[in-house]
Amino acid sequence: MDIRTNVLRQLKNRREGFSLEQAFYTSPDYFKLDMEMIYYRDWLFIGHDCEVPRAGNYFTVQIGDYPVVIVRGRDNVIRAFHNSCRHRGSRVCNTERGSSAKLVCPYHQWTYELDGSLLFARQMAEDFDKSQFGLKPVHCESVGGYIFICLAKTAPDFAPVRDAITPYIAPHRLGEAKIAFQSTIIEKGNWKLVWENNRECYHCSANHPELCRTFPEAPTVSGVQGAMSDPVIVSHWDRCEAAGLPSTFQLSADGQYRTARMPLIEGVESYTMSGRNAVRRPLSSDVTIDNIGTMLLFHYPSTWNHMLGDHAISFRVLPISAEETAVTTKWLVHKDAVEGVDYDLEELTHVWTETNDQDRRIVEENAFGIRSPAYEPGPYSELHEGGVMQFVEWYSNFMVNRLQGEQAKLSVVA
Ligand code: FES
Ligand SMILES: [Fe+2]
Repeated sequence: MDIRTNVLRQLKNRREGFSLEQAFYTSPDYFKLDMEMIYYRDWLFIGHDCEVPRAGNYFTVQIGDYPVVIVRGRDNVIRAFHNSCRHRGSRVCNTERGSSAKLVCPYHQWTYELDGSLLFARQMAEDFDKSQFGLKPVHCESVGGYIFICLAKTAPDFAPVRDAITPYIAPHRLGEAKIAFQSTIIEKGNWKLVWENNRECYHCSANHPELCRTFPEAPTVSGVQGAMSDPVIVSHWDRCEAAGLPSTFQLSADGQYRTARMPLIEGVESYTMSGRNAVRRPLSSDVTIDNIGTMLLFHYPSTWNHMLGDHAISFRVLPISAEETAVTTKWLVHKDAVEGVDYDLEELTHVWTETNDQDRRIVEENAFGIRSPAYEPGPYSELHEGGVMQFVEWYSNFMVNRLQGEQAKLSVVA
């Protein structure tokens, strides 16, 4: 049976409320299909506007087989391109980030404008038509300081995402922030295990002593159900919304993204060991009250986020192989906040650096056990793992829809 048919059959027959079959977490063939159906075809959070503040600033990223460069043009527009020279395919930008008036391929110096058009190609034939050899564009959207890209030829409509998340993230003014610190860790586990672990706090009390000082373990906070009937959360929403901060729980109809402003433990301001703000300078002048908790945003398959009063943290999930995932964390603060004066970097980053490392170990142990021939899908806790069930449900529906769509196309061609 071919791999697509097999995946489709397994997902359609999957036992609801249970983890997935082993191959979904370990098989290179299943991984390839995940990449083709999801990562190569949907919108992915890739970085922040403030990482390319001026024309010519760029950063590069690898998404599966695709090297991509994101660059700000002279017209201030942020664009993304396939980072593969139109001459013989060399990577044009080969550093993680940089700044350049033009993009010059290091191999034979073909030179591209910041808008991707080919400006100069040395000693090509008389009839060489430069206009046919610009860098290939990648769909790119910027919303509230977040850059999303899509590798598909035709991208899904981004407008619903933009409309839903803008009111929640705009007050944090992340377009004007700066990155105080970033880290990338490689977790030896399938990308779905990284997500499953993220979508519950059932594991928090035993594994995250630092985070548990400030983040509530209540499933109404971390999960996707029950928030509306939790009086602590509802009164938090009332207070924040009265101050002009959209807060109530919002999940897209297809389950791909969620926004909700959640309270931290009572009396706590931020993710520090003391619970007090790590940054003396507030992140945004549009936030006029204290103790706003954390605005939680996730967008499958590439990002989850926390936006607090003094800083924000973004997480980016990029699969490397069936059993390796890169998780990049960025701490954002007000652009004028000065390290050593307005914040201490160790205090700002301590809790999530520890938490990330603890989560890495959890994911790796999970992956280790799943490799056992004795592994079989196990039941999620309905109370604590509603978020995980929701993620697996989204994944399964998404894959089934796309695989069925492909099959329908094939039968039309046949
Ligand atoms: S491959 Fe880029 S200039 Fe030759
Ligand atoms: Fe965790």
